[in-house]
Amino acid sequence: MKTFTLNDGHTIPALGFGTYKATEAEGIAAIRFAVERGYRLFDTAAKYGNEEVVGAGLRKSGIPRKELYITTKVWREELGYAETKQALDKSLMRLQMDYVDLYLIHWPANERNYTNWQKTNAETWKAMEELRQEGKIRSIGVSNFFRSHLDALLETTTIKPAVNQIEFHPGYWQPELTVYCKEQDILVEAWSPLARGRVFNNAYLQQLAAKYNKSVSQVCLRWALQHQVIPIPKSNTEERIAENMDIFDFALTDEEVTAINQLPQMGFSGELPDIWPERLPAD
Ligand SMILES: NC(=O)c1ccc[n+]([C@@H]2O[C@H](COP(=O)([O-])OP(=O)(O)OC[C@H]3O[C@@H](n4cnc5c(N)ncnc54)[C@H](OP(=O)(O)O)[C@@H]3O)[C@@H](O)[C@H]2O)c1
Repeated sequence: MKTFTLNDGHTIPALGFGTYKATEAEGIAAIRFAVERGYRLFDTAAKYGNEEVVGAGLRKSGIPRKELYITTKVWREELGYAETKQALDKSLMRLQMDYVDLYLIHWPANERNYTNWQKTNAETWKAMEELRQEGKIRSIGVSNFFRSHLDALLETTTIKPAVNQIEFHPGYWQPELTVYCKEQDILVEAWSPLARGRVFNNAYLQQLAAKYNKSVSQVCLRWALQHQVIPIPKSNTEERIAENMDIFDFALTDEEVTAINQLPQMGFSGELPDIWPERLPAD
């Protein structure tokens, strides 16, 4: 598995496995199969309600803990210094693990849901820095942070976020934010890299899939990778789990990457960090 190096020196697999909506029985089976197929990065969150399932699936796989890369996230209703410390302890208990490799602020506090959102994010981050110091977390990062949230956070951080996990797929890839994260040496992870299937009917993506004898899903994942962005596709289907891993034997040309960049907006989830919990209509 190809890896990237984070700004804190830790390495991270270049492809991950999403677990949103991975439920009890099929979740465990999917995780077992993903491990067999070579996935090592598993992305969960307290909010997904499946940390026990993910932890159990990984224990059953028999792969040593140190060979796995586990991400979980603090939910936006648990932000704050003391709350974050408690939230991580609960996550570790559910996962039955001593540490996570990456802990993310799932959504930033924003001016609609916290009276002093900058302070709330800063205090959450301070707790995460201390938890990292204590060895309960290897790397710390954020998710769904716009530049405004990042800039405010960077004013008070001792340790810079290693990752920003954002919605990123053809038709909605937040290019300015992606470039800004790169300039700041913050690695981008792509959530919903397949737009939950909403880009599969695009004629250009289908044309590229035919050209490379790959699927549209593989083209989307490869495109993210060529942006130095880590895709974390989710699937409960054995065949698709294997298919999504098989993206390291072909490369899109620069022209094709640019053409995908320029596809019109499609597949947008409707979720935006500065208006959350409200949302826009999805494409
Ligand atoms: N930080 C955040 O706020 C945030 C938000 C959303 C998601 N995430 C993370 O990102 C992960 C991935 O995003 P996502 O689950 O929203 O969406 P996604 O990975 O873009 O799409 C998942 C959907 O695509 C289908 N699929 C997967 N591979 C396929 C293939 N090769 N061919 C056809 N269909 C395929 C899956 O169906 P089957 O399962 O039936 O195969 C599932 O319905 C999540 O699981 C979660 O870990 C994070």
